[in-house]
Amino acid sequence: MTTDEVREKYLKFFEARGHKRITPAPLVLENDPTTLFTSSGMQPLVPYLMGETHPEGKRLVDSQPSIRTVDIEEVGDNRHLTYFEMLGNWSLGDYFKEEQLNWIWEFFTEGLSLAREKLWITVFEGGGGVARDEESVEIWKKIGIGQERIFYYPAEKNWWSRSGTPEQMPINEIGGPTSEVFYEFESIKHDKKFGEKCHPNCDCGRFLEIGNSVFMVYKKTKDGLGELPNKNVDFGGGLERLVMAVNDNPDLYQIDVFQRFIGPLEALTGKSYDSFQREMRIVADHIRASEALVKTDVVPGNKLQGYVLRRLIRRAAVKMRNLKGNLQKTDLSFDFTDGVRQVVEEEVERFDKTLDRGLKEMEKIKKIDEKKAFDLYQSYGFPLEITQEIFAEKGQRIDKDKFEAEFEKHKEKSRTAAGGMFKGGLADKSEETTRFHTATHLLHESLRRVLGEHVQQKGSNITSERLRFDFSHSKKLTNEEIKKVEEMVNERITKNLPVKAETMTVKEALDSGALGFFSERYKEKVKAYSIGDFSKEICGGPHVAATGEIGRVRIIKEESLAAGVRRIYVSQTAQ
Ligand code: ALA
Repeated sequence: MTTDEVREKYLKFFEARGHKRITPAPLVLENDPTTLFTSSGMQPLVPYLMGETHPEGKRLVDSQPSIRTVDIEEVGDNRHLTYFEMLGNWSLGDYFKEEQLNWIWEFFTEGLSLAREKLWITVFEGGGGVARDEESVEIWKKIGIGQERIFYYPAEKNWWSRSGTPEQMPINEIGGPTSEVFYEFESIKHDKKFGEKCHPNCDCGRFLEIGNSVFMVYKKTKDGLGELPNKNVDFGGGLERLVMAVNDNPDLYQIDVFQRFIGPLEALTGKSYDSFQREMRIVADHIRASEALVKTDVVPGNKLQGYVLRRLIRRAAVKMRNLKGNLQKTDLSFDFTDGVRQVVEEEVERFDKTLDRGLKEMEKIKKIDEKKAFDLYQSYGFPLEITQEIFAEKGQRIDKDKFEAEFEKHKEKSRTAAGGMFKGGLADKSEETTRFHTATHLLHESLRRVLGEHVQQKGSNITSERLRFDFSHSKKLTNEEIKKVEEMVNERITKNLPVKAETMTVKEALDSGALGFFSERYKEKVKAYSIGDFSKEICGGPHVAATGEIGRVRIIKEESLAAGVRRIYVSQTAQ
């Protein structure tokens, strides 16, 4: 079965059980400064899991392109990817454990015909004030699974939130216990280096997690875990991994989507995949992820998403040079479209220059040590093997364990940095984002009233510090116009107008006077948000309950973005 076939089967299976197929979110979420990438299917649905009503209803299904940068260092083994698709189905306060576990079992064993005797189950053993999940065990037993195939694990394995265990969850983060399904590859023999006995969560590679049903019912509060308004289900299953299980092949890189990389790699380097698995897997994964990022309009750079893209392309380039003995700018182009090819080629060319500088830097080093080796990796993308080769020739050795300890130190730092960003975002900045989101509606309507009805929103972007708003208008705004718009927005903020949402069809919304300029993006049912009787707009939310929560704002900058499009920046006035 191909990846496309498995995806379609899953979506249809859940559609037949009352789920609405929703459009997946982009890899880089608009208006979400809290994370770099969409890293799971639930991420764009957080407001709805927290209790907002979703315009498409209570049963949703999709396949969400995702990036997980924490897994970058694991790439090269038989199962890890940075970029993947996550199949997801959700119950927003509708069905719960009974339906979810029955359906997922039916999908795996009947929809995909996975052999029952190769499937193993895990459940939460309890802890942190949450009971052992006997309820799921009873359901699995009723389905016909013997106790010997069901394993209990603690929160490190069978609890899911975007930030980990209940203790690691920041205030306001949502999560819950999980029940997971694992596929067993009989062709992989257990390696005792991973423990005396093999079990579903063993790292030897014999077992592969193919589905995670999260019972999303908790929210972290300052007093510990509290309950969400609804009992939700959040299911996630790695699409590419499922295809591996369907093909009963323990090598992820042998599924169809990687053939467009592995074949050309063998041809270009004259080396076989079997002998150079790790290198070729890294190139294939990193370049596939890079393609997805470039298509989402990310460009290589030194910050945030751009920096991740840069690392991916450069690491792939080092591996390619390793494999091929030299590097040409077209080496990583594969069958890309012109746009993607251009970005990748320019970055390879740029890197070629640092690579030379890196080599010169190496010549200056008289005695290598693990820290210097790590710096070379960090600054010039030189993997340990290359540095090792060059200094071994000189009779100098690098201790791999110490090098890895340097690596761990660094990873710990970046994890903390990412954690900080994530935590800060969820703990308090999400409220600021919501405030700016409502301010966007006030700004849109005010611009239309001051400049004319030709004004249409063209885009927006919100960070915790400011809101950026693009709209159609061909002339520079005068100081007077800016002042008028600002006053109009602030007047509505001071009036503390109520913000209300109604669910209706696109047609009803537009007929009732709601603004909506992206209607092709919208499905049948949408939400229309009105702010007093000042503004009404089609939008997914979330918003503040009343405009007084926003606090006064000011326009800090106005500029031209493109022909006929202006860009405005708004921040909060110091309170
Ligand atoms: N949100 C859950 C995960 O990402 C399903 O594994």
